[in-house]
Amino acid sequence: MIEFKNVKKIYDNGTVALDGVDLTIEDGEFVFIVGASGAGKSTLTKLLTREETITDGSLTVDEFDLVNMPERKIPYYRRRIGVVFQDFRLIPDMTVYENVAFAMEIVGEPKAKIKRTVGKVLETVGLIDKRNVFPNQLSGGEQQRVALARALANNAKTIIADEPTGNIDPRRSLEIMNLLIKIHKKNKTVIVVTHEKQLVDYFHQRVVTIENGVVTSDRVGGMFNEKV
Ligand SMILES: Nc1ncnc2c1ncn2[C@@H]1O[C@H](COP(=O)(O)OP(=O)(O)O)[C@@H](O)[C@H]1O
Ligand SMILES: [Mg+2]
Repeated sequence: MIEFKNVKKIYDNGTVALDGVDLTIEDGEFVFIVGASGAGKSTLTKLLTREETITDGSLTVDEFDLVNMPERKIPYYRRRIGVVFQDFRLIPDMTVYENVAFAMEIVGEPKAKIKRTVGKVLETVGLIDKRNVFPNQLSGGEQQRVALARALANNAKTIIADEPTGNIDPRRSLEIMNLLIKIHKKNKTVIVVTHEKQLVDYFHQRVVTIENGVVTSDRVGGMFNEKV
């Protein structure tokens, strides 16, 4: 379970990015985080990945207290979370296969397991045929799917995607969203940050709206919501 309690984030230059956020996300939930540019969405995800620390309030993820977490525990904590960054962060001189495998190598997984898992996650995102290609030979949507495969590789229970449909056309956006729903159905907590309201409405999932650093609405969609 993820629990933000009255979370404030003020950057060093004085910008108040989050101004008292209360938000609870249960295990296995699918949540859209929406809001205008500058609302504080990416800040929220950076607090969860512990790239940034909160200024005030409390933030816990399962047994981890992100405020009082010692530095040495951060790499261990991060295995709980698979992140798809807004800018993909793929390594240009590594193939699709290597980009995904790398995520597992750095946590010391055995070779045989890496091989098996990378094949499986590339299958999931529909890129198995592109495994030996380099990122610059892929479309934006395909690069996004590599980033998603990498986020899945370590079997993290929570997947966070920040603007996964950022620079791709509407049809590809829908594909990526469908993939995230498919991943959610495999029992993962999925948090999707987006500013595409139309796309969000289509899926009828929980939608948390952030405006000027506060949660202004939190609603659960209707007919396609499988949580009954
Ligand atoms: N590293 C930073 N230093 C100072 N201000 C920042 C930093 N990152 C983000 N901000 C500011 O915090 C606010 C929220 O940003 P962000 O969380 O990126 O919003 P969103 O992802 O919703 O567009 C914005 O005003 C932004 O300019
Ligand atoms: Mg952002």
